[in-house]
Amino acid sequence: MSTADPAQARAAAPAGRRETFLPFSRPTIEDDEIAQVVDSLRSGWITTGPKVTRFEEMFTERLGGHAVAVASATAGLHVTIAALDPKPGDEFIVPAMTWASTANVVELCGARTVFADVHPDTLQIDADDVARRITKRTRAILPVHYAGQPADLDALRALADAHGLTIIEDAAHALGTAYKGVEIGRDSEVAVYSFHPIKNVTTGEGGMVVCRDEAFADRLRRLRFHGVSKDAWKRYRKGGGPRYDVLEPAWKYNMMDLQAALGLEQMKKLERFNARRTELGERYHRLFADVDGIAPLGHVPYEALHAWHLYVVRLDLDACTLDRDAFMGALTEENIGTGLHFPALHMATYYREKYGHDPDTLPNAYRAGETIFSLPLYPLMSEADQDDVVDAVRRVLAAHRKA
Ligand SMILES: Cc1ncc(COP(=O)(O)O)c(C=O)c1O
Repeated sequence: MSTADPAQARAAAPAGRRETFLPFSRPTIEDDEIAQVVDSLRSGWITTGPKVTRFEEMFTERLGGHAVAVASATAGLHVTIAALDPKPGDEFIVPAMTWASTANVVELCGARTVFADVHPDTLQIDADDVARRITKRTRAILPVHYAGQPADLDALRALADAHGLTIIEDAAHALGTAYKGVEIGRDSEVAVYSFHPIKNVTTGEGGMVVCRDEAFADRLRRLRFHGVSKDAWKRYRKGGGPRYDVLEPAWKYNMMDLQAALGLEQMKKLERFNARRTELGERYHRLFADVDGIAPLGHVPYEALHAWHLYVVRLDLDACTLDRDAFMGALTEENIGTGLHFPALHMATYYREKYGHDPDTLPNAYRAGETIFSLPLYPLMSEADQDDVVDAVRRVLAAHRKA
């Protein structure tokens, strides 16, 4: 039925449906962010400049090491892998439960993606499965701190030490996450953050690589900006010399001051944002505790601080006549936005065909990829919004329960 006519749409709406659409995500942009962006616009300097430098300093003050701001986490992962100078046939181990770019950048660097399976209850990379997949060609492991909980770094570091591997942490979900009392990024060889609009802190689009090694950071800086020895700020500011050299061909992955302007204000609020996410995440857990047919993810079995980037639940396909995609569609009809993080990446056409994968090659990731979906979780949500989400899930389950 057409929903163009509001009266008709109301008549067709499921009883109890929320009046307005609750988006899956919405960034918290306040007056400080707006003023900081306007300040950049008025300053005459909008691309990479002093605000990017300050934004990088905020990360080194927080996490130590070196920070390199980039255009996205994808760009950060790309230059990180490129900086390892992989040879054709080198292998990088990536969890099958991740966004495409964790593996795409491996392929773009001419190396091979070896997928590892995940723990079914937390969807964190399974270190035992990683161990089984290490070969003489393995160069690095790329754990994803999925949904904001940390991967089991001790187990992965033991493997990396034993086999001489690099650990590149995909920390796109993990700004503020801690593993055994240490914030992700602080002890990390390399950690890569994302500031995409649904992330815990946003710059519109953007990313940050935090690493320990100064020479490695310098290489990343070169790879993010054409392979030249000096960025625009160093050339055009007063006193900056005009000459530059091209040391290797590379990408244009620099972050703009306009983006960093947002980040400078957002980072000051990270603790507040994450505290609110935690309240909402824990409240979801309580509200879903007695809902048959929906299982939230479990807590990792080690000490962890959860950044609550995503609230992911699993649909019990034995309890419901709808499959997961139809269930998400029914929630849209209820005016509740949802997300899918992620369908198992080994089953995407490129990876399936190149490496001959089928569902059984990474069974936990595959099963999760068919049953999970993410519910709205962001600081601007109210408890009433959250109640609407849980009520809608209950109603869809009740309407489609298997006999
Ligand atoms: C696990 C993971 N890695 C990497 C990325 C890429 O982040 P970006 O969009 O900043 O490139 C994402 C994006 O959502 C992600 O979820």
